[in-house]
Amino acid sequence: MMACASSLSMMVLVLVAAMAAAATAQLSATFYDTSCPNALSTIQSVVTAAVNNEPRMGASLLRLHFHDCFGCDASVLLADNGTFVGEQGALPNKGSLRGFDVVGNIKTQVEAVCQQIVSCADILAVAARDSVVALGGPSWTVLLGRRDSTTASKTNADNDLPSPSFDLVNLTTAFSNKGLSTADMVALSGAHTIGQAHCHDFRDRIYNETPHQLCLRDVAPGQLPTNLISQKGLLHSDQVLFNGSSTDNMVMIFASSAAAFSSAFATAMVNMGNISPKTGTAGEIRLNCSRVN
Ligand code: HEM
Ligand SMILES: *[C@@H]1O[C@H](CO)[C@@H](O)[C@H](O)[C@H]1NC(C)=O
Ligand SMILES: *[C@@H]1O[C@H](CO)[C@@H](O)[C@H](O)[C@H]1NC(C)=O
Ligand SMILES: *[C@@H]1O[C@H](CO)[C@@H](O)[C@H](O)[C@H]1NC(C)=O
Ligand SMILES: *[C@@H]1O[C@H](CO)[C@@H](O)[C@H](O)[C@H]1NC(C)=O
Repeated sequence: MMACASSLSMMVLVLVAAMAAAATAQLSATFYDTSCPNALSTIQSVVTAAVNNEPRMGASLLRLHFHDCFGCDASVLLADNGTFVGEQGALPNKGSLRGFDVVGNIKTQVEAVCQQIVSCADILAVAARDSVVALGGPSWTVLLGRRDSTTASKTNADNDLPSPSFDLVNLTTAFSNKGLSTADMVALSGAHTIGQAHCHDFRDRIYNETPHQLCLRDVAPGQLPTNLISQKGLLHSDQVLFNGSSTDNMVMIFASSAAAFSSAFATAMVNMGNISPKTGTAGEIRLNCSRVN
């Protein structure tokens, strides 16, 4: 009996391990090389034009991928209508997520070169990378082959996305719930060197914590660690990363080496892009990123 039970659990373990490996193995850098060889260059040209037109758009597209990626299935792009409630009205998204029009433009261009081949979830992942590159930040190889959801969950978006009032333990938990390490979380928070935040997100911090007079962030990828060390983190959730705890050391390393930060950020972006993608025959390839087919 014992032997039987343990070999069964061995088999289950092997199966679970094989399935986990298969889920990641299905994303691949070469996914569109034969099915849509111009996909990546098409996405990049729309992103570069949009960022040249408005640098903040690069920040907005990066954030859109992050807010999708606590799922990586383009669920965040599904627009609300009379019968459908998606994620765009969730608290972390409402009134602050931007870039939907640019994603729509990318999708139109991509559909013109290859019909219903390239997913909206992959468009978000590539657009995030191309945005960071267009803003002078590091590059990385984007793994591809995600498919698009046919549903969205406002509740999950509300519960799973981190809040700017989070302390270190809350942040660590939110990221580890998605399989991301503390090192990933610290590196990814470096994204807050670019873009803008609404005053309500940091009002408490400005008046009750360290005074900080900036409302708009400068476009300078990689500056976050230096800002944190000088106690100039914009969000409470940023400053807790350098406030006498275990993450101080990582912030110091990133502040003293742009290369270390770039490399950790690139690795963390790939890890974030691997969060529960839909692959194989799951989901669909949307024709219009804002609605299910
Ligand atoms: C660590 C937990 C995080 C928290 C609590 C957080 C929270 C926030 C908040 C409150 C804003 C301002 C939104 C507004 O007022 O308009 C913001 C902006 C932004 N976040 Fe995060 N964020 C986190 C992680 C990330 C990650 C992982 C990324 C990407 C890798 C990211 C990228 C951005 C960018 C680029 C902006 C500026 C967007 C724009 O200007 O349109 N954030 N974040
Ligand atoms: C952070 O986590 C603690 C412990 O789980 C919890 O009591 C607290 O309410 C959380 N803070 C926020 C802002 O969610
Ligand atoms: C930093 O730590 C101090 C001392 O524990 C605490 O009073 C303060 O609220 C913390 N600030 C941030 C932004 O975490
Ligand atoms: C995509 O769908 C949205 C929501 O239904 C609609 O507003 C938009 O015009 C559509 N885009 C295209 C290119 O058809
Ligand atoms: C509302 O959105 C859902 C999800 O995208 C879609 O299935 C449905 O067709 C839309 N309804 C209308 C009336 O556009």
